[in-house]
Amino acid sequence: MPVTKDDVLAALSRIAAPTGAPLPQTGTLSDIVASDGKVFFSITVDAGVVQAWEPVRKHAEDAVKAIPGVQTAMVALTAERKGGQAAPPAPPRGAPPSPGNTRARPGHGGEPVGVPGVEAIIAVASGKGGVGKSTTAVNLALGLRDLGLKVGVLDADIYGPSLPKLLAIREKPQTIGGTRLKPITRYGLTVMSIGFLIEEETPMIWRGPMVMSALTQMLREVEWGTLDVMVVDMPPGTGDAQLTMAQQVPLKGAVIVSTPQDLALIDARRGIAMFKRVNVPVLGIVENMSTFICPNCGTRSDIFGHGGARHEAERLGVPFLGEVPLEMTIRETSDAGLPIGATKPDSAQAAAYRAIAERVRAELGAGAAAKPAPKIVIES
Ligand SMILES: Nc1ncnc2c1ncn2[C@@H]1O[C@H](COP(=O)(O)OP(=O)(O)OP(=O)(O)O)[C@@H](O)[C@H]1O
Ligand SMILES: [Mg+2]
Repeated sequence: MPVTKDDVLAALSRIAAPTGAPLPQTGTLSDIVASDGKVFFSITVDAGVVQAWEPVRKHAEDAVKAIPGVQTAMVALTAERKGGQAAPPAPPRGAPPSPGNTRARPGHGGEPVGVPGVEAIIAVASGKGGVGKSTTAVNLALGLRDLGLKVGVLDADIYGPSLPKLLAIREKPQTIGGTRLKPITRYGLTVMSIGFLIEEETPMIWRGPMVMSALTQMLREVEWGTLDVMVVDMPPGTGDAQLTMAQQVPLKGAVIVSTPQDLALIDARRGIAMFKRVNVPVLGIVENMSTFICPNCGTRSDIFGHGGARHEAERLGVPFLGEVPLEMTIRETSDAGLPIGATKPDSAQAAAYRAIAERVRAELGAGAAAKPAPKIVIES
């Protein structure tokens, strides 16, 4: 018998909130997603009472895990600001205390806490969908790996996760001690995606808090180990959901992917503005699908134009990180789960991604050198 929402609610009704009321009656629960033995939901409370609710979250998670048929349960505690306004912009970078890759943590009013063991978290983003963020994220990660770095990839596209397909991962992450998840390793990368937990066909009707809780758990309840860089594949767009993510993931920088044509560049500009708004440095722009070289005749055609992103980077005063051609082999390897950076390392395309990775590393290094590496403070 599949586990239903009602089963979950029945288990939760035996748990008391700090006020003594049964948990389902407190109005703090998000939608409950129960699918294929996996249960996810969040508890949203006022920022001031988060600590009192942490044991409730733990009880709820344990109770759900104890329901016969439940394999995984993720319950997150999220804090809500009064009046429902968006979280304020994070303080300027470098403002104390600004430990390494950390910025404002939701509900705690300060900086978000870095992920212990992870040196730098960078986002790969764009304002527009389908410009090649996920493909770039994976191949950039492989390029960074080739530079000798220990690299992880987090798929933050909760609505449309790409990593299962791009890396042909069908296995489920194992749990460690019943509470933490072990990420999957592929091509030397440590990777995690909500898509590893949920079947592709499952409709994803996530409410805002659910999205955040899933992301928070993938950041903090996964055994990432020691990483030099975690590359976060962001969902498309610059709406509230993306802004919140940009604020809540402790990012050291963002790589913006754009195709060369004007329309995409307008969206790229929005993406850059979004990261600036939350004080995340833009490491630079990648021009994807830059030029097309016919695999048969070798003729070059600039389908979306060429050089638009380089020009835009210059105009906006952000680094230009490099260009990747529109290439059949990139699409084929990407869609077959055999990323070109791993499976055709000697190709010109893999070299293009490595060159981009080198520039990203240089940008990260430049940022780190500009200010002394601060100590990481871990909130309990
Ligand atoms: N340089 C390239 N040459 C050829 N095809 C590419 C290139 N980059 C990406 N693609 C293809 O374009 C499609 C979209 O790429 P991808 O999924 O990486 O984009 P995305 O920006 O992450 O999309 P979404 O906004 O849906 O998350 C895929 O089929 C991918 O294989
Ligand atoms: Mg994508």
